[in-house]
This record gives sequence, structure tokens and C-alpha cells, in this order.
Amino acid sequence: MGELIAILSGKGGTGKTSLCAGIAEALAQQGEKVLCIDCDVGLRNLDIALGISQIGGLSFLDVCSGGYGLDMATVHPVYPNISFLTAPVTCPVEDIDPAAFSKMLTAARSKFSYILLDAPAGIETGFRLAARFCDRVILVTGADPASIRDASRAADVLETMGKENIRMIINRVQPKLFEAMDVTVDDIMDQSGLPLLGLVPEDQKVILSAAFRQPLLGYGKKGAAAACKRIAKRIRGLYVPVKI
Ligand SMILES: Nc1ncnc2c1ncn2[C@@H]1O[C@H](COP(=O)(O)OP(=O)(O)OP(=O)(O)O)[C@@H](O)[C@H]1O
Ligand SMILES: [Mg+2]
Repeated sequence: MGELIAILSGKGGTGKTSLCAGIAEALAQQGEKVLCIDCDVGLRNLDIALGISQIGGLSFLDVCSGGYGLDMATVHPVYPNISFLTAPVTCPVEDIDPAAFSKMLTAARSKFSYILLDAPAGIETGFRLAARFCDRVILVTGADPASIRDASRAADVLETMGKENIRMIINRVQPKLFEAMDVTVDDIMDQSGLPLLGLVPEDQKVILSAAFRQPLLGYGKKGAAAACKRIAKRIRGLYVPVKI
């Protein structure tokens, strides 16, 4: 049975989409079969982060509505272990039927080892749709106080939804900035109340790979790409020391 992982944040722009793509590529490289679902209804961009924006493809609504099967999802040309469903653009997220969404996810569990849901910012309907059926949550935060507060608030909402398996990625880490801010990873864990899944450094390859429509892992071997590989191993239950 595949595992369903929601990638959430609270605050916008923390790196959910970029890391969803990087982690999916790393899981695929490590031999796992992955389905990526863009849940950012109306503002989708996971296709760009995966480097496949030139390929049109099905939205998850096409599958939920019963017109298409999961075998029709876009297959990544570089990572054939990754299938992808984009988000619908015009359908309001409130109109998505949770029962149909759940049915699609149940079917996906038997075909993929990991299903990654890239959620929109905020803690509203889209957040809840992505979180509702997942087995575990990855909360992506920056080191700034606003991101940390929003991650902590998102974790509170998730707890009211009965979610227990919640871990945090601190993204865009810059050791010199940490020093200047007089902040440590421990401080961020204390402030957010969340256990750590990984640290991802500030890395311009994240921006460049998207700009050149390339997968992050094909574009860089160190920095954020290496961090995504370590995180993918931890998701798979392997012990990998935390480093930056
Ligand atoms: N580790 C990183 N180093 C440098 N730039 C990064 C890093 N992670 C993300 N970015 C950049 O930050 C911006 C926001 O990233 P991204 O779109 O992944 O965030 P998001 O949380 O999905 O945003 P939204 O809440 O709008 O969905 C993008 O321009 C991306 O390239
Ligand atoms: Mg996003």
C-alpha cells in the first residue's frame, strides 16, 4: 500500500512546490514509484518545478470525475517512475468532491509507493483537501518568524484534524543568516513544536532549474538536490544524519 504525504506550510512561498518536485525526483531515483498531485487549484505550478511544463496533462479532477484512469496520468520523461496529475485551473476548490478525491487516492495507493500532494498556501479548503486523507505531513517553513509561526498554526489545525505524523523541513537555510539572526535549528524546533525531517539550503539551482524548465536533480548534485535525496531516504525509513 502506497503512502500518502501532504506537503503543507501555512505561509505562502516557503518552497512546498519546489521541494515536492525535488523529493519526488529523489524518491524515483531511489527506485520508488511516485504519483505527484498538484493540489494548488487555480494556481498550479508543480509541472514547472518538475521540469515538465511543456507537456500538457490530465488534472486530478479529470480522474476524480471518472473520465480517465490513473494510468493516463502524465509520465515524467526523465523519471519514468514519476506520474503527475496537475490541478484544475477553473474549478473552485470548494466544488471538488472529497469523496471522489478520496476514491482516486485509494486507487493510487495500490499503484504507487508514495503519493505526494503539493498543497496551496493557507489553512483553508485546499490545505484541508490535501491534509484530510494523508498518512503523514511535511510542513515546509523558512527560518523567519512569520513562517515559523504559520507552520506552528498549521500544525495546530492538523492536530484538530487528527494528524499526528507531522515533520518539518526548514528550507532556504543560510548558516550566516542564522548566525546573524542568532537563531539555531533547535530554536526553530522549539518555536514550532515540530520534529525535523530535514534542512534544505538556499540554493539558486532551485530557481535556475525552474527557469530552464529542468528537474532540480538533473540540474544540481549538491545543495538543495542533495538535501532532497537525504530527505527522500528518511521518508523511506533510512537513517541519514542531518547536515547542511
Ligand atoms: N532552497 C531554495 N533555494 C532558493 N530558492 C528557493 C528554494 N526553495 C524555493 N525557492 C524559490 O522560492 C520561490 C517559492 O518557492 P515555491 O513556489 O516552491 O513555494 P511554495 O511554498 O510552493 O509557494 P506557494 O505557497 O505560492 O505555493 C520560488 O521562486 C523557488 O524557486
Ligand atoms: Mg506551491
